[in-house]
Amino acid sequence: MSDPRPVSAAPADDDAQYEAGLRPRRLDDYIGQDRVRENLHVSIEAARLRREALDHVLLYGPPGLGKTTLAYVIANELAAPIRTTAGPVIEKPGDLAGILSNLQPREVLFIDEIHRMAPNIEEILYPAMEDFELDIVIGQGPGARSVKVPVERFTLVGATTRAGLLTAPLRSRFGIVHRLDFYTPSDLDEIVRRSARILDLDVEPAATQEIASRSRGTPRIANRLLRRVRDYAQVRADGRVTLEVARAALALLEVDEHGFDEVDRRLLRAIIEKFSGGPVGLNSLSAALSEEPDAIEDIHEPFLIQIGFLERTPRGRVATPRAYEYFGRPMPGRGLF
Ligand SMILES: Nc1ncnc2c1ncn2[C@@H]1O[C@H](COP(=O)(O)OP(=O)(O)OP(=O)(O)O)[C@@H](O)[C@H]1O
Ligand SMILES: [Mg+2]
Repeated sequence: MSDPRPVSAAPADDDAQYEAGLRPRRLDDYIGQDRVRENLHVSIEAARLRREALDHVLLYGPPGLGKTTLAYVIANELAAPIRTTAGPVIEKPGDLAGILSNLQPREVLFIDEIHRMAPNIEEILYPAMEDFELDIVIGQGPGARSVKVPVERFTLVGATTRAGLLTAPLRSRFGIVHRLDFYTPSDLDEIVRRSARILDLDVEPAATQEIASRSRGTPRIANRLLRRVRDYAQVRADGRVTLEVARAALALLEVDEHGFDEVDRRLLRAIIEKFSGGPVGLNSLSAALSEEPDAIEDIHEPFLIQIGFLERTPRGRVATPRAYEYFGRPMPGRGLF
């Protein structure tokens, strides 16, 4: 998914080249997500002491919060090799069987978008994860027989933005399951300061705080806004990022104080104006906005829900009083006294 909006959590085309350089490599450099970090620290240390493969790890949460980063950090901390693939790119069961049978002892196999694996491919994983063997069927028809082929003890790290779409048998085979949450403004501030250091950028503390507070709790967005602000500082100022420069750059990008952009505002406005505040179903909302339902659900909504502008109810999406307040509108049924 590529998305040109400055505050989209989905990776933009030019993110990849920068993200590689800004990715923390050790657990100690991984900022925020304290509970996840501490738990992983214990699990990794224990596996290292016992010289065993780490238990399989499932990481889930909205895009851009550091799942891929954490997969690499885990491999680094284990001093183990890592191999990367993704649910949608594994086309045939044989492809996955080939990967599994070539793994080295304690290797980390990272499967991104693991909820998008085809069922017949996923089944290959079950015995591999549980008993470190593959069930290979030889021959066809009545003469077919199944043989078990051992694989090395490896660690599967699965990442997904949609844990709800994982099948129960797959989910139950992960011994370690962690949900990544949106980052606090102070964690994001630390991330922006670290990135500025790596990019050798002169930034005022007030400016990093400003960027952090407009980044929707998401490190990918924080790093992207920092790069845009850096561009602005070079072209329109003397290269130094002051609060004034950061504000001017963010205003030019139309990123407001919540990190909302035009799509967020359209989404909230549609619920309020076209659907009387909701509840409105995902498909109606998608049609009204001409945005994909998946994009609305994965990228736009989680943050709006997190900061209390939107609620998901069994009957659909509802705009909250804060959303009405944001647009300076009275909420129906209130404010009549
Ligand atoms: N805890 C962190 N500390 C510092 N930087 C981070 C952290 N988490 C993520 N980042 C930065 O954010 C960028 C995006 O993170 P990452 O690619 O790991 O997200 P993701 O959860 O895998 O996203 P997606 O769901 O789109 O695959 C990283 O390149 C890294 O620079
Ligand atoms: Mg990722």
